Amino acid sequence: SANTPHWRPEVRFTPRRNWMNDPNGLVRHRGEYHLFFQHNPSGIEHANMSWGHAVSTDLVNWQHLPVALEPDELGEIFSGSAVVDEHDSSGLFGGGSGIVACYTSAGRTQTQSIAHSSDGGRTWTKYPGNPVIDNPGIADFRDPKVIRHEPAGKWVLLLAAGDRVLFYESTDLLNWTKASEFGAEHGAHGGVWECPDLFELPVDGDESRSRWVLVVSINPGGPAGGSATQYFVGDFDGTEFVNENDPDEVRWVDRGADFYACQSWFGVPPEDGRRLWVGWMSNWAYAQHVPTSPWRGAMTAPREVGLTESSSGTRLVQRPVRELESARGPARHWRGMVPEHATAPRFRGTALDIVAEFEIVDGRPEFGFEVLAGDEHRTLIGYDAESRRLFVDRTRSGSAEVAPEFPARHETPLSVDGSRVRLRILLDHCGVEVFAEDGAAVLTELVLADEGDDRGRVFCSGGRVFLESLRVHELRP
Ligand code: FRU
Repeated sequence: SANTPHWRPEVRFTPRRNWMNDPNGLVRHRGEYHLFFQHNPSGIEHANMSWGHAVSTDLVNWQHLPVALEPDELGEIFSGSAVVDEHDSSGLFGGGSGIVACYTSAGRTQTQSIAHSSDGGRTWTKYPGNPVIDNPGIADFRDPKVIRHEPAGKWVLLLAAGDRVLFYESTDLLNWTKASEFGAEHGAHGGVWECPDLFELPVDGDESRSRWVLVVSINPGGPAGGSATQYFVGDFDGTEFVNENDPDEVRWVDRGADFYACQSWFGVPPEDGRRLWVGWMSNWAYAQHVPTSPWRGAMTAPREVGLTESSSGTRLVQRPVRELESARGPARHWRGMVPEHATAPRFRGTALDIVAEFEIVDGRPEFGFEVLAGDEHRTLIGYDAESRRLFVDRTRSGSAEVAPEFPARHETPLSVDGSRVRLRILLDHCGVEVFAEDGAAVLTELVLADEGDDRGRVFCSGGRVFLESLRVHELRP
């Protein structure tokens, strides 16, 4: 099919060519962020699964590297993670240190395997004793995420097993013993569980009130249809995860259609202290029909994850990493009243970082931004003060045909502070990431606008808003 350079993002990572899905093996090592990813090196379909590879020092500019792991006699290389083995607990580094990757070998059955690198991830050796975790008779048994549990002085591996997460432990990354299970009676179960992650975070920056967050992707059964990511908040003692909320309660990381299989970086230095992650910006409901070329699949912008105390309990918040601000061009600024059926302010562009603060003045208006507009198409991003919902409407976003369910409006409840509404929008050619109220609500959506549809404006209906401030930056790394 014809090449589509107008859909190639500026700051979001895409492979040069061919298929990509989940982020894998996210690790920071010797000053580099590694991004491995589910990749077909020889086609634009999901096949020949391998780990593609890129590195960055700033999470904005990525250097493409050769494929790191390719299929072998145990199967294709499915999703997994990586850690830095600083003190050679594995004995794989002759007393030195290196990176240990743990992935699913997807062959006749799904098993977990190890590979190691002592040259900063450039070359890899598969462990001869693979698989390190054999299949216990479970069809869906994959996506190992390894973490270090310092208080217990051990490595912990969690993986997705259909309707639950299984936890294993090890002192050497090679010999694993099953420790516990979580989830059969918790959260959403409209589909198979995939790609778990687990980390501890302070609440509102207060280390003395930290909690553990267990993240699990699920496909299908997401709130916008198809795949999505849920999370649980609670405690983890190195052996068992305990959910502190009602088991029936479902919490979504992102209510948009296109945030899946996110994984956080291992090894971000303690003096930095951030929990950083990235997700696959697509949805299994239509991922294989996305008409970008010569690549298919994009990552979201890297995000910083936090916890905050709210009226509905301890909640996850996300915002784009601050490094992205280096990709901002000069801003245009506005401030002023936005009357009904507003036609200004107007701007143009398909790669923009928009920061806005609105004040509702009267009525219960629906307001926000129209972007990627041309004569026939447009995408709406806004807040409906009547239903108190944030939304992205891509029902008329372009003439590209992806799938019947693609043209849709997706929403999330958003409680705002008084009458103020704060929005941050990353528009990057092939879609939008919308963060409201400091990342308390997030909608990530692929949008495939027609080439040349680049008009933007503020809209408001059913009342009036005052635009306290609006900054529109061009994105150009
Ligand atoms: C999630 C997933 C994983 C699997 C990989 C295969 O998107 O289905 O469970 O390891 O993709 O590419």
